[in-house]
Amino acid sequence: MPQSRAPKSLAEKLQSAVSLPQDAPRETAPAMPPPRVLRLGINIDHVATVRNARGGLHPDPLRAAHLAIEGGADGITAHLREDRRHISDADITRLKNEITRPLNLEMAATDEMLKIALRHVPHACCLVPERRQERTTEGGLAVLGNEKTLQPYIAALKDAGIRVSLFIEPDLATIDAAADLAADIVELHTGRYCHAALDHDAAGLAREVQRHTIAAAAAASAGLEVHAGHGLTYNTVAAIARLPDIVELNIGHFLMGEAIFCGLSSAVRRMRHLMDDARTVDVRRPAL
Ligand code: PXP
Repeated sequence: MPQSRAPKSLAEKLQSAVSLPQDAPRETAPAMPPPRVLRLGINIDHVATVRNARGGLHPDPLRAAHLAIEGGADGITAHLREDRRHISDADITRLKNEITRPLNLEMAATDEMLKIALRHVPHACCLVPERRQERTTEGGLAVLGNEKTLQPYIAALKDAGIRVSLFIEPDLATIDAAADLAADIVELHTGRYCHAALDHDAAGLAREVQRHTIAAAAAASAGLEVHAGHGLTYNTVAAIARLPDIVELNIGHFLMGEAIFCGLSSAVRRMRHLMDDARTVDVRRPAL
């Protein structure tokens, strides 16, 4: 069944996990600031996964980046993995030179990747954990206890004028550590939230939405820009897009799958629409 036509019960569970009580006294609620703009970064890694399956040039991730921008993407994200299983060095060169929106380079904190980042100077680098055997980026970066290792990479990227993001679990101690390391951005790993949605686990959903709400508010008040992503779909995007402290979502795999059926620009346009709609809903910050 396509994701866009999920069973009603899941949508209802998602809604009840995040919405205000029906009888909330809206007229007496404090005035909310206008919703902040929510950007959409499109991760094009899996266009390269399909291309690499046959070792040729088609489909081209750069062409996908152009189509994503046409559909409303504010930026393009690409993960250059150590094993080059999808995006290649040449892709990064072409993306950096040819796209008309900021490039967010996801990479592990290694000397090799740092050198590449400093050569291309993308708009931002998102430091992610990388394990060779994993299917995708499973879990956030281990920041706690690794501050000394991460600090020189963060400093070198920032010195080159690159914004530095850390891909982390929505965890308060990790957010404090990211702020202490002077990262510019934290990207909250929405994987567990999305798994709860796939499992139709209403309690898990409510818990994960709450974790993200609290983490996003804490990160913003620590002066960090807040992004989120991983596993987001048409069905799961609203509860995250609604959080007022989040200013960017990065989405890839689901949209590449949808693109098979309706084209990439149109898949991106629909996601953009769902995010914008979610942003109009009244949300109150949690007490920290
Ligand atoms: N953000 C980061 C840091 C990621 O590593 C990924 C996956 O590569 C995404 C967002 C996008 O996740 P997905 O492809 O599941 O939408």
